[in-house]
Amino acid sequence: MHITSPFTSPLGGVESLLAEARERTLVLIENVSEADLERVHDPLMSPLVWDIGHIAAFEDLWISREAGLDLLRPELAAVYDAEETPRSDRGDLPYLSRDEALAYMDEVRERALGSLDLVSPFIGEMLVQHENQHNETMLQTLQLAEPGAYEPPRRRSPGRAAAGALEVAAGPFRMGDPGRGFAYDNERPQHEVDLPAFRIDRAPVTNAAFDEFVADGGYHRRELWTPEGWAFREREGWERPLYWTEDGRERRFDQVVALDPDLPVMHVSWFEAGAFARWRGARLPSEAEWEKAARRAGLRRGNLDQLDFGPGPAGPFLGDCWEWTASEFRGYPGFRAFPYAEYSEVFFDSGYRVLRGASWATRARVARASFRNWDHPRRRQIFAGFRCVEESR
Ligand SMILES: [Fe+2]
Repeated sequence: MHITSPFTSPLGGVESLLAEARERTLVLIENVSEADLERVHDPLMSPLVWDIGHIAAFEDLWISREAGLDLLRPELAAVYDAEETPRSDRGDLPYLSRDEALAYMDEVRERALGSLDLVSPFIGEMLVQHENQHNETMLQTLQLAEPGAYEPPRRRSPGRAAAGALEVAAGPFRMGDPGRGFAYDNERPQHEVDLPAFRIDRAPVTNAAFDEFVADGGYHRRELWTPEGWAFREREGWERPLYWTEDGRERRFDQVVALDPDLPVMHVSWFEAGAFARWRGARLPSEAEWEKAARRAGLRRGNLDQLDFGPGPAGPFLGDCWEWTASEFRGYPGFRAFPYAEYSEVFFDSGYRVLRGASWATRARVARASFRNWDHPRRRQIFAGFRCVEESR
């Protein structure tokens, strides 16, 4: 079956894009030991070798469909199907070892390159972005891993967090993918949304601001939390963001460093973000507010593309950290699944909350104002922070 795609960019260049995506994946794991690649570092995450085999299996699936070929390794399809096996069970799967997974990657790629003229531009770009997106998942796993598993190269981005709020006037705007480039089905169709005026922070909430909330007893004031959020806080014993230490520092991969007051706070759940907002007399933006403000502010990019292994000073809407929004993940009016229902439709209306923007770990190609990320409101392993909307006074 050949799928008709709304994405019509010329195919030229997909070969080099695929090569670039692969190079980054391999750089990411080149200094990780075989044992650390095959270990389950946290029940939340797959072992890293699962991601490697899954990237290959996803490419195998789509290249085979497009080119009318049989799967190269049909026996692996179920092992690497993200829907069939929850992450917590992936440690028990008969997945390939490091060397086997890398060999499978090479075999699939070789066949893909021989079939590219049969592959639609949308599917070619989807394979690139899928591999790009798994790089970020792999970095989440590496950040969860015990110090010693991964020592990233580092630079620092000096500067101060942006201050103040952006006034966004009442009125309609076009929400969603404008149709000029690649977008997933959940970003479409573009549609008009009319919003009242609002004031949104120019920057995500900083470490300094969140530290004040912690110091003010924010984690112990039940009235600031939703009932579900409070139950999680109690059950998990949350006292501070995931990687903050009791002595007021934070762990970033292999190092424990002083909190930088100008960086966005990260690794907080949607529940913690909401509690902070209530403490400040504010709220989380809806995703429509977020997107309208982002388009209005101009799409200046913060730290992206895994270059500094951490965010830059809090400010831009794209880059540094994902941002939780108040919105639940749903289809836009007129939504149609493409090219498969499992990408987004199966997650609609199930309590997932939308995150917007992009993080320092997001490949630049994936970062766009219409991109919608989603996760459970209790999740903290994502490179996510948030910004607030001030309640109208
Ligand atoms: Fe995937």
